[in-house]
Amino acid sequence: MLALETTQLTKDYETKDTFLRAVNDLTVAIEESEIYSLLGPNGSGKTTTVRMLAGILKPTLGSANVLGYDIVKESQQLRANVGLLTETPALYERLTVRQNLEFIAKLYDVPKEEIRHRVEEIVDLFDISEKIDLPSGSLSKGMKQKVAIARAIFHNPKVIFLDEPTSSLAPESAKIVRDQIIKLAKKEKRTFFICTHNLFEAERLSTRVGIINHGMLIAQGSPAVLREMKKDEAVTILRFVNWKPGIESFLKKLNVEIVDINPDQKTISVSISDIETQTPEIIKNLVNQKYQMIEVRHEYPTLERIYLELVETESAPRFDEEEDEQ
Ligand SMILES: Nc1ncnc2c1ncn2[C@@H]1O[C@H](COP(=O)(O)OP(=O)(O)O)[C@@H](O)[C@H]1O
Ligand SMILES: [Mg+2]
Repeated sequence: MLALETTQLTKDYETKDTFLRAVNDLTVAIEESEIYSLLGPNGSGKTTTVRMLAGILKPTLGSANVLGYDIVKESQQLRANVGLLTETPALYERLTVRQNLEFIAKLYDVPKEEIRHRVEEIVDLFDISEKIDLPSGSLSKGMKQKVAIARAIFHNPKVIFLDEPTSSLAPESAKIVRDQIIKLAKKEKRTFFICTHNLFEAERLSTRVGIINHGMLIAQGSPAVLREMKKDEAVTILRFVNWKPGIESFLKKLNVEIVDINPDQKTISVSISDIETQTPEIIKNLVNQKYQMIEVRHEYPTLERIYLELVETESAPRFDEEEDEQ
């Protein structure tokens, strides 16, 4: 079942003397239970996309529906049925964590008798029981973010939009959040649409990644599929039992392009244009020449390199995860 579908979704920002197409002709279809990451550098249109999909910003052109609700005509029902973590979420700082959650429960009409149980469940899920009766304003930035995410999913929405969910979290908190997202998607068939400029995160979390640049979707697929796009740039590492000089010239005779030689490691790295057909040939020739091999390994280019090539480096994103928590 499709959880979300967009057709040529477009958003222009216009003022008297400026015109910007922030999202350009975006067409995606996302299945229930997917974790879809929209990955792109700052200013590429991720937040604008999510705000349209969550029913708080009208598109200029194109259409979309989430859980069958049209994002323009049925935006009210849409908003009641999805969860949204905005880019800069704000908690009521003077209220405790519990009060913040109870506030959201009322807003979404969660039945009174369910609230207590749901608070316990969510507190457990995010491991925030120690903080539950503290004023939200006293929490660290990372802890606030966890509460904000807990709040976004409090009313049990089927589709959840998270705009940069872990950008303010320390690595261990970011991992907790990622694990929760994966668990919710797998066990409860919830669908996540996540904006991130963090490639590390997209790669670990997502069933599929859409790479966006200047408002345009420029690549899409599972992390593995995206890596395959540059399969021909793989490097093949051959490791031998003994290092014999002459391996190099022998390989050259076979028209194999040599990338690196490392006699200490007893390895030689080569570039093979057609891995499936050429690799067995090369191995056969080497073995025939009594070069004893113990390892043949193909190293594919990382998603990071592919991503950087796609978006060029002019607006390079950050790959670090910021430390914040005390
Ligand atoms: N309300 C707005 N008015 C005018 N321009 C905007 C507005 N919001 C965002 N933009 C511009 O639209 C582009 C995309 O922004 P945004 O969707 O926030 O990207 P991202 O979330 O990928 O960083 C940027 O160039 C940004 O400056
Ligand atoms: Mg953004």
